[in-house]
Amino acid sequence: MLEVNNLKVDFNTPRGRLQAVRGVSLSLAKGDFLGIVGESGSGKSVTASSIMKLLPANAVMSGSIILSGENPLEMTPAELRAFRGRRIAMIFQEPGRSFDPIYNMSKTFLETFRTLSPGITEEESDARAVKLLEEVNLSKPAERLGNFPHQFSGGQLQRIMIALALASNPELLIADEPTTALDVTIQSEIVDLLMNLRKTRGMAIIFITHDIELVSNIADRIIVMYSGLVMEESSAADIMKNPMHPYTAGLLGSLPTFGDHYSRRKLVSIPGGIPDPVYPEPGCPFEPRCPFARPECRNRIPGLDRKDGRYRCVIDGAKEPGRNG
Ligand SMILES: Nc1ncnc2c1ncn2[C@@H]1O[C@H](COP(=O)(O)OP(=O)(O)OP(=O)(O)O)[C@@H](O)[C@H]1O
Ligand SMILES: [Mg+2]
Repeated sequence: MLEVNNLKVDFNTPRGRLQAVRGVSLSLAKGDFLGIVGESGSGKSVTASSIMKLLPANAVMSGSIILSGENPLEMTPAELRAFRGRRIAMIFQEPGRSFDPIYNMSKTFLETFRTLSPGITEEESDARAVKLLEEVNLSKPAERLGNFPHQFSGGQLQRIMIALALASNPELLIADEPTTALDVTIQSEIVDLLMNLRKTRGMAIIFITHDIELVSNIADRIIVMYSGLVMEESSAADIMKNPMHPYTAGLLGSLPTFGDHYSRRKLVSIPGGIPDPVYPEPGCPFEPRCPFARPECRNRIPGLDRKDGRYRCVIDGAKEPGRNG
């Protein structure tokens, strides 16, 4: 249903050309639940925004994106608006910021429905809004249509965001860190809601997060991104049981660290930082931080497809310490 092929996105910046996404391919079937994980700056949001073709003017994009036979990269602005509304919806990290503070919920839904069916009346709009709000388990939705964004909690606003996203009956929902700003209990409620909607609506979901353990519980497949590249792609179960790329192992906290071989450490403590996206080195971007790095890792980036799976690394699984380890 969705095929992204060799997607590259650069940004023209005062420092030079910033390579945010360096050739990402992914495919998604109807009803799939795909997780995308990686540290801050790895290109997750830019990849997602490209699928919606929601990029700023300084972006230069190449590759192809086909959704149910249509390519948003080749559309006119009007076709693109219709396409976005009909096929894909996206929800973001801070739901509060996506709402207009001077619109109550009744008006917010009316604006959304009007873009889809311009002739809709306020009564019809309210009735449909209540249905959608029931579907996302907002309590007493009819009583809350008159409320403004500041009168809801973060978790409630995220439910309302999801209800708005469902308004167009999308085939694909892209959720970009939808739970990061929420506390843990609310986080798991939102995750449960998304998993339910996937079942009841047969909707495909791309779930973007820093949290590999969270996403491994909900996704079928996981893509691990680093420095604008897919470093590993596998089923969620395999990623958790048997991470092949040292970076994935690092995210899982099972990477032997420098001078501290077998301690379990978290993502935040993989030593070092992400490479400068304006001046990427020719080699593996994880090489400077990798306990298994070999001299050849500095020269080129390994391909993703291997006999035993999809991961960009010269070693056979994150097991044998090399030069740095
Ligand atoms: N409009 C822009 N102009 C210039 N650079 C940008 C722009 N948007 C993103 N970038 C850069 O592109 C790279 C990838 O950013 P992206 O937002 O996709 O990261 P991310 O993986 O979503 O990170 P996070 O987890 O923090 O959300 C970063 O280096 C970022 O600074
Ligand atoms: Mg992001």
